[in-house]
Amino acid sequence: MRTATAPSPHERLKTRYGDNCAAAPSAWSDVIDHLLDHRSVRKYLPDPVTDAQLHAILAAAQSAPSSSNLHAWSVVAVTDPDLRDRLSQLVGNQPQVSQAPMQLVWLADLSMLHQASREKEQAAQGLDYLEMFLLAALDAALASQNASIAAQSIGLATVYIGGIRNQMDKVADLLGLPPRVAPVFGMCLGTADPARPTAIKPRPPQSVVLHRNRYESQAVMPGLQHYDEVMQRFYKSQSMEADSWILRSLNRVATPASLTGRDRLREMLMQLGFPLK
Ligand SMILES: Cc1cc2nc3c(=O)[nH]c(=O)nc-3n(C[C@H](O)[C@H](O)[C@H](O)COP(=O)(O)O)c2cc1C
Repeated sequence: MRTATAPSPHERLKTRYGDNCAAAPSAWSDVIDHLLDHRSVRKYLPDPVTDAQLHAILAAAQSAPSSSNLHAWSVVAVTDPDLRDRLSQLVGNQPQVSQAPMQLVWLADLSMLHQASREKEQAAQGLDYLEMFLLAALDAALASQNASIAAQSIGLATVYIGGIRNQMDKVADLLGLPPRVAPVFGMCLGTADPARPTAIKPRPPQSVVLHRNRYESQAVMPGLQHYDEVMQRFYKSQSMEADSWILRSLNRVATPASLTGRDRLREMLMQLGFPLK
C-alpha cells in the first residue's frame, strides 16, 4: 500500500534512470515500487539473520520457476566468522563478505540428479553437457533474485558476490561441495547499516535493452553515451571519481586478467565434475 510519503511512480522512474523521463506508465503496482527501490548494500550491522527470516527467504527462493521443475540448485548459508573471512579473501578481499552476518553461496547443483540416477540405476548422460550447467546456473539465479527481493521486503539487504567464481575451486573445497556442484555467486545478507545509506544506481535507458520485433543496433551507442553522462553525474553525487561508465566497463573486459581468475572458469568447472560437452 502506497503511503503519503512514498515516492510517486514518476519520482521512482526519475531516480532509476537518473534523468527526467516520460510520465510514469499507468500500469504500476506495489511490487514494481519495491523492485525500483533495489540497491546493493555493502555496509552491514552485525545483527544476525534469524532462522525465521532465512526460512521465509528460502520459501521465496524456492517459489521461483525452475527449468523442467528440476530444482538444480542449492545454497550454503555461511555464518561462521572464520569461513566468512576466508571467503572474503577468496573473492578478492571484499570486506562486506566478512562483515555481513550471513553469506549465501548459491550453487549450480547437478549432484542431486546424479545421486538419483545412481539410486535408480538409470543413465544420466545429459548431466555431462554444457546445457545442464547453464540450466542449473539459471535456476540458481532465478531463486537467488527471489531471495534478494524477499529479503528487501522484510527489512534486510543484499549484494551479490560474483567474486565467488574467481577461485570457485577453492570455494568448493572450503565448503565441502560434492562433485557436480559449483558455486556460481555469493550474496551478502544482513541489516543495512543506517549510518552508511546506499543510493539507487541509475540504469541505461530502455532504448538500449528493449528491441521491438527485431534487434535495433542503431539505438545502442546513443543510449550508452547518454547513460555515460548520467553515470558521471551519479558518481559525482556519490563523491566517487567521475569516471566514464563506458571506459570503466571496457576495462572490466579488456584482457583475460580483467576477469580476475574467471578466465579459468572452464578448467575449474571441469575439475568440479562438469565435463561441459
Ligand atoms: C551476478 C552478480 C555479481 C555481482 N558481484 C559483485 C561483487 O562481487 N561485489 C560487489 O560489491 N558487487 C557485486 N555485484 C553488484 C553489482 O555491482 C550491482 O548490482 C551493480 O553495480 C548495480 O548496482 P545496484 O545493484 O545497487 O543497482 C554483483 C551483481 C550481480 C548481479
